[in-house]
Amino acid sequence: LGQYPENTIVQRPMVAAHRGVPSLAPENTMAGYRLSYELEADMIETDLQVSKDGHIIVMHDATVNRTTNGTGLVSDLTLEELKQLDAGIKFGEEFAGELVPTLREFLREFKGKDVVLLVELKAQGIEERVLQEIKEENMMDQVVIQNFDLPSMIKFNTLQPELPTGYLYSAGVPNTVEERLNNAKKMLDYGATHNVTLNASYGSVYEEFITYMRQRGMLSLHWTFRDEDPFADKLREGLIGPITDYMQWLTHSPIHI
Ligand code: G3P
Ligand code: CA
Repeated sequence: LGQYPENTIVQRPMVAAHRGVPSLAPENTMAGYRLSYELEADMIETDLQVSKDGHIIVMHDATVNRTTNGTGLVSDLTLEELKQLDAGIKFGEEFAGELVPTLREFLREFKGKDVVLLVELKAQGIEERVLQEIKEENMMDQVVIQNFDLPSMIKFNTLQPELPTGYLYSAGVPNTVEERLNNAKKMLDYGATHNVTLNASYGSVYEEFITYMRQRGMLSLHWTFRDEDPFADKLREGLIGPITDYMQWLTHSPIHI
């Protein structure tokens, strides 16, 4: 990610491994999560869906088509049926036999380890069940919740104010830098009154935005870095919480001190 002049003090970013390390291992599988932990991820990001029989499972899409050897909606399949699927084979033969994890398995794998779990709710109306599993595993201090749905995050906060929550925000249609900053500030102010931070897409943020968040003491995580150029630029602008498919860039970069 580039060279710094001698004696420059640099800070290693707090990196979130997006769905594990999907550039090296199948997304949202135990193999991928374990690899991201070995590569020293500070956070492991994951996505939650719900099975036909009400189990919270880990998968990005609403269907199993893209990431497994099966077809159909997650919500039409029972946990037993989901566990018949191979979630690794499409990525590579060496990952054949990887299973679709449950939230419970994911939590237990990393319970007490030096990593934060960044859990994104994809299915609707699962706030209480997700919270219950986190509580049952005594992992309230190891989880951050995020969602593109702001009311869901506000609901989560009402249920459990101590659990950090982030609204996945994107500036959307191109507008001027000033408009973007004003919109983002409005969202940040609104979020702050509900104890919800803003996890903005990296394309939506720039130096003033990052400074504004930092002044307010808000945790700032930004998605999803898949290209080294903006990655390096944004880190130099002060972004400290990248969510990336390529966390190995940081482990092996000069920024890692
Ligand atoms: O962590 C944020 C990012 O994961 C949001 O996008 O579609 O990859 O869940 P998506
Ligand atoms: Ca996600």
